[in-house]
Amino acid sequence: MNKTMETLHSMRSIRKFSDMEIEGKKLEEILETTLRTANSGGRQVYSVVVVDDRKLLDEYFFKANKALVFCVDFNRWIDCANHLNHSIQVGDIRGFFLGNIDAIMASQTAIIAAKSLGIDSLATSKLFRMELEKVYKILNLPDKYCFPLISICLGYAKEEPEHFKGRVRKGVIHYNKYQRLSSKEIEEIIDEYDKEENHFSSLTKEDIQKEGYKGFLDKYFSNWDGSFPEEQIKDCYKKLKKVGFFEKM
Ligand SMILES: Cc1cc2nc3c(=O)[nH]c(=O)nc-3n(C[C@H](O)[C@H](O)[C@H](O)COP(=O)(O)O)c2cc1C
Repeated sequence: MNKTMETLHSMRSIRKFSDMEIEGKKLEEILETTLRTANSGGRQVYSVVVVDDRKLLDEYFFKANKALVFCVDFNRWIDCANHLNHSIQVGDIRGFFLGNIDAIMASQTAIIAAKSLGIDSLATSKLFRMELEKVYKILNLPDKYCFPLISICLGYAKEEPEHFKGRVRKGVIHYNKYQRLSSKEIEEIIDEYDKEENHFSSLTKEDIQKEGYKGFLDKYFSNWDGSFPEEQIKDCYKKLKKVGFFEKM
């Protein structure tokens, strides 16, 4: 495995960060590298809010040493166009997707760049779980054409997770054509979640079965049907409309 692959394979989420400061030079390197990410049409329709305010980090970003909030953001692009007396269209779903992709790809670059410097991270969608108007206020985000998608908490690990979480491959990777899964393959995937070496649960399959479930995924689906609180969903739709990304709907 080459050095890059080693870095990628060593990645795992850290949720407890030490007090150790990320050196300013390293943070700059992470940001500079992040900017190298491919982006739609060379427009870089995203922005990054670097958070180093201790109170904000403690409250919203897992007490990390720094956090990077990646937003879909067309404001810089609009400002440049307007300055040159052009008006441009950005309030549609396609633009929103492209901004999403720019922001998410850049956030993964930041995670990898950080890890290559020995700095750990956690990606979190925690801001979604907050009242969005409050998030906009805290971060002073523009009212239009900007949406905070994902936050990357950065710091040095205080506590290592006990194990690496496994990954499923079957049904994820397809060659040439998408292949629907057979019942046998579905069963194989469900079994993956129960393999101890994958550490999807801290409990063994036997322990989970003692609780009355068939295994990890049966317990998972029994306890969460994938829905988020109704008011959070409504808040999200409302805000997306207000910021202008679904004007053409
Ligand atoms: C979009 C996204 C949102 C996430 N949000 C959270 C979160 O709010 N809280 C958390 O503890 N982990 C969060 N995670 C981390 C995942 O739980 C973690 O990546 C996954 O369980 C795999 O574990 P690993 O990264 O340690 O391999 C998030 C990851 C992603 C990509």
